[in-house]
Amino acid sequence: MMATDAIWRRLNLKVKMDRRTFGITIAGAMASCSRRNHESRTPELKPQPFGKAADGTPVEMYKLRKDNGMEIAIITYGGIVQSLRVPDAKGKITDLVLGFDDMTGYQDNKAYFGALIGRYGNRIGNARFTLNGVEYKLAANDGKNTLHGGKVGFDKRIWTVVPQQHADGDSLRLHYLSKDGEEGFPGNLDATVTYTLLEPNALRIDYVAKTDKATVVNLTNHSYFNLSGADSAKGILDHEVNIEADHITPVDSGLIPTGSLARVDGTPFDFRQPRVIGERIEADDEQIRFGKGYDHNFVLRAGGGLQPVLAATVRDPKSGRRMEVLTTEPGLQFYTGNFLDGSLKGKGGKAYPRRFAFCMETQHFPDSPNQPTFPSTVLRPEHDYKSTTIYRFPNV
Ligand code: GLA
Repeated sequence: MMATDAIWRRLNLKVKMDRRTFGITIAGAMASCSRRNHESRTPELKPQPFGKAADGTPVEMYKLRKDNGMEIAIITYGGIVQSLRVPDAKGKITDLVLGFDDMTGYQDNKAYFGALIGRYGNRIGNARFTLNGVEYKLAANDGKNTLHGGKVGFDKRIWTVVPQQHADGDSLRLHYLSKDGEEGFPGNLDATVTYTLLEPNALRIDYVAKTDKATVVNLTNHSYFNLSGADSAKGILDHEVNIEADHITPVDSGLIPTGSLARVDGTPFDFRQPRVIGERIEADDEQIRFGKGYDHNFVLRAGGGLQPVLAATVRDPKSGRRMEVLTTEPGLQFYTGNFLDGSLKGKGGKAYPRRFAFCMETQHFPDSPNQPTFPSTVLRPEHDYKSTTIYRFPNV
């Protein structure tokens, strides 16, 4: 089931165009959102101590809040979303993301709960790639492959808070400078991520990066959601999912894309109509076996565009909550927490069993640096990397 040349051409063209023109559109959108949010601002951002990283660096926590009770807590270690408290239709506020109460948990955060992921989210096959005729060898941390930026990815770095000229309490801007050669990647990469709460009940994440030498970049956030709550007694197998994709990028047994696109028709990956997650998660299907459930990149039908577009919708029948994911990225990794096994004790001592939560990681496709037909993840000094994702929780 190879993709036609036409699909590839469309994907590549779209993404290239967007990298050139994207900045203007997002700047406009940001200005109008900040005007809208003016009314319900939190007066100032005050950090709270949140323990220390393994090397002794103090870690701080920042909270953003809306008048309706929506609240996000972010820590400077990994830029991690430690909690995301969202009101439902009746005003009941629930924390929807997995995480830990203190730094002891995060120091051993093998699941990447809530973290910013970089410099390259997802996998790079054989921990290497070639750019401008030079082969770069990366840190291998997932068998022979590189996962989520290597041994010490952006998820384990301390981010600094950037004071904002018009800071109004609705957003937190974090900065990290990834040095030339870090984890094997070329170029000093200057990364800035802004978390913004929007009315009503939405979190926007804006990623911007610059390099001084050609490199590859793929930034995302690794929040795990359970729409019944992070302390719920039940997992997410009864959640209904809708993904705006006609194809996935099929993988080999090491979860590295084969390079082709596979249509979702007649497979457990067809989420074009809402389907319950648990329905086909154990299907007799090679891709499901390789992923141990869902752990695949979906090719977003309208992705890679100038504006964030709807990528996925998730609904929890128990709480009635809904989550929508909008993004400018061309791909979405739908991961069902297949590697969780109950050994991690999260907030309030809650054990997180297998498939207790799901991730919707907006991204360029895995292993793009080695896949010439995938939309490019190369960033050159003359361009800015820009990406935006919105997690929205409509109460309708
Ligand atoms: C991503 C990967 C998964 C897994 C998780 C972290 O979603 O695709 O295979 O590594 O991160 O456990």
